[in-house]
Amino acid sequence: MTRKPLIAGNWKMNKTTVEAASLSQDIAYNYHDSLDDADIVLCPPFIDLKTVNTVLTFDHSKIKLGAQDVYWEKPGPYTGAIAPNMLKEVGCSYCIVGHSERREFFGETDQDINRKIRALLEVGIRPIVCCGENLELREAGEALAFVVSQVKAALADIPAALAKTLALAYEPIWAIGTGRTATPEAAEEVCCALRACLAQRYGADVADQIRILYGGSLKAENAAHFSPQPNIDGGLIGGAALDARNFIDLAKAFV
Ligand code: PGA
Repeated sequence: MTRKPLIAGNWKMNKTTVEAASLSQDIAYNYHDSLDDADIVLCPPFIDLKTVNTVLTFDHSKIKLGAQDVYWEKPGPYTGAIAPNMLKEVGCSYCIVGHSERREFFGETDQDINRKIRALLEVGIRPIVCCGENLELREAGEALAFVVSQVKAALADIPAALAKTLALAYEPIWAIGTGRTATPEAAEEVCCALRACLAQRYGADVADQIRILYGGSLKAENAAHFSPQPNIDGGLIGGAALDARNFIDLAKAFV
């Protein structure tokens, strides 16, 4: 089955509102019609969501909006947190969940991630669920088992009808922001194992519809090595998403 590629730019903690307006304008300007065959998503910081949405709407852009995180509770006394319905209202159709930086610096657990996914699905936002091993696990030969266990925990109690709307992003921690990518074959091996895990849980038909992305030092220059891999359906992009030309050229490698 052919899955529609998904290319998401994770801006992380970068770009003031003024800078976000300029970068999203630049990306919309560089957008190419060939990208209509993919879903292109910008995930700026919370404070920039409204601005980026305004820029994309004004431009009649097909580029979609995503957030980098969410809190699972309904609106209430949770200082500093953002609820799923708030993301929905500001125009988000996607949200990254469980990025390794959230796990490492903010102590997010697999259970937190599962709650976030369920809360997002309830309001119709598509989660992009991150997983990935550190170098120690990779060198110990435990990468596959670890990543599969992360995904199983993240998807606990999520029914097939909802699971097929989410995406997984395999991001080996040692490849994030380091300039060192996994080899395309090694990334494919993990993505293939993830699809097998999805098939076991939901059946082959649903597993075939779920997009699995690779992330970790992807750039326009190396994306074409990953895009032909049968189980890699797009990318989650950090550093290269902060440069409009590079981001769009990278996306083109997947269509
Ligand atoms: P990178 O980040 O492309 O800068 O390696 C990817 C990510 O963290 O999502």
